[in-house]
Amino acid sequence: MNIILLGPPGAGKGTQAGKLVSKHGMVQLSTGDMLRAARSSGTEMGKRVAAVMDRGELVTDDIVIGLIGEALDEAAASGGVIFDGFPRTLAQADALGDLLAGRGQGLDAVVELRVDDEALVERITGRYSCGDCGAVYHDRTKPTQVDGVCDVCGSTNLQRRADDSEESLRQRLMEYYKKTSPLVGYYHAKGNLRVVDGLASMEAVEAGIEAALAR
Ligand code: AP5
Repeated sequence: MNIILLGPPGAGKGTQAGKLVSKHGMVQLSTGDMLRAARSSGTEMGKRVAAVMDRGELVTDDIVIGLIGEALDEAAASGGVIFDGFPRTLAQADALGDLLAGRGQGLDAVVELRVDDEALVERITGRYSCGDCGAVYHDRTKPTQVDGVCDVCGSTNLQRRADDSEESLRQRLMEYYKKTSPLVGYYHAKGNLRVVDGLASMEAVEAGIEAALAR
């Protein structure tokens, strides 16, 4: 099963992708995570994209399409792929269709996590994550059980993202509405789109996604 989780920054794509990975043995391909890994390992590409990401703008299509192409080859033996944060433009959506078709595969569903902008500011500014295992937390809705210690791996390396400021979030939302939201109509027209209320509790969103995938 290959699925896309679509939604603006803070909609819960990463949170829900993590749950699908644990339950279904799928592989999560997050272009945001791949780009952050490239910048922290100091590759040439990582250095080029760092400032773009911090401003909340989109990285060029050729870079992310290249990353996804390589990752798809590595994920070939998995039980399916969850695309988290990709595609984000119509060009990326077309490229993904071609990449999958070239491997004899297709998309099973595109799940739009629908939220409103007011909730996103609170979600993004309260978010932190484990720098070692990637588990995602929130100051109010999902704090760690022990202050400063990751519930999953016990690390104390908890971090906040450089682009989680209110200013960068405004730009990320603008990019979403200008370049990514047309994908809702694109996948609706292809017959792949399912809509889930992303404002519900994490458990209710999880159940909504399972119901959408079972349809
Ligand atoms: P990326 O890393 O993809 O960030 P994003 O799309 O902005 O999404 P986020 O990771 O911020 O949010 P999320 O939806 O995963 O929410 P989460 O689950 O963490 O991209 C970062 C940058 O990389 C981009 O700006 C761009 O520069 C570049 N980039 C990446 N992909 C690209 C591409 N394809 N093309 C070009 N450039 C690209 O949840 C947020 C918070 O809310 C957490 O604290 C969580 O605990 C909490 N929460 C989640 N669900 C709920 C719930 N149901 N109720 C209450 N709280 C909840």
